[in-house]
Amino acid sequence: MEEGGKQLCEAAKNGDAEKLKTLIDSGADVSYFDGEGLTPLMHAAQLGHAAAVKALLEAGAPWNALNPSNISAGDLAMNAGHEEAYELLLNAGIQAELVLGTIARRENNNGEWNDDYLEDRVSFSEDKLMDAENKAVMMAWENPLMEAHAKAVCSNGGHILNIGFGMGLVDTAIQKYSPASHTIVEAHPNVFQRMLDDGWDKKENVTIICGRWQDVVHELPTFDGIFFDTYGEYYDDLREFHQQLPVLLKPGGIYSFFNGLCGGLKMDGDLHNWWYYDYT
Ligand SMILES: C[S@@+](CC[C@H](N)C(=O)[O-])C[C@H]1O[C@@H](n2cnc3c(N)ncnc32)[C@H](O)[C@@H]1O
Repeated sequence: MEEGGKQLCEAAKNGDAEKLKTLIDSGADVSYFDGEGLTPLMHAAQLGHAAAVKALLEAGAPWNALNPSNISAGDLAMNAGHEEAYELLLNAGIQAELVLGTIARRENNNGEWNDDYLEDRVSFSEDKLMDAENKAVMMAWENPLMEAHAKAVCSNGGHILNIGFGMGLVDTAIQKYSPASHTIVEAHPNVFQRMLDDGWDKKENVTIICGRWQDVVHELPTFDGIFFDTYGEYYDDLREFHQQLPVLLKPGGIYSFFNGLCGGLKMDGDLHNWWYYDYT
């Protein structure tokens, strides 16, 4: 078994897709980690061998496995500028998230909304917001990212929407830009109570809405900037929110979001990626 794995790594380094297929057909383990903690897929990805990446993904190689530095095959391809290999890995990740999200949703609640997180208590400490399982919903170290998101979504000024208050980091940053209006949608009752305790309902340009975005989105006006960062949701929810954007965002408006969709076989918590879209 180990010998097969080593041979796979060798073939992956050489970009030999035919050899990979022969080895896979003879039972070699595509999940093999070599002495450096790299899988065959990571070797193919970091050298930009797209055909080898494709063959390994088709054989079920784990796209989200991490090397000892917590780096996935997708990261390796991206860092080395191998666009084709990176696209293959990104698509594999998105497809897996879609399928796993749908299965998880069905298993959890027969297709109904997963409201475990929203029904359980959350707790605040100085630098964290934790859920009932002691997993971090939000942490203070994310502040610089939140400030960057706020800067992006406020760059046109005007009317701003934020979905998911958490620790209020992004909302505090948004307030520094003095938007014409600042609407915040928050679903968790404990978090919402915290917003009231901290006087967010008293701020002149702020409207706070207690509820799931799914339940209130159709009553919202349009915005010049929108930020989205929820917790305990699935990729499907993010996609569903993105489908609302053509109506919710004014022409030329800026949208940015935070999510937990990156590879995470060895990861705890919620490491976020970020992108922003400019709907011009
Ligand atoms: C990661 S935190 C947001 C952190 C925030 N960006 C900050 O800067 O502190 C996610 C928040 O989204 C809220 N949330 C989860 N699901 C939601 C939903 N469907 N609609 C609105 N808010 C939701 C959670 O209660 C939580 O407060």
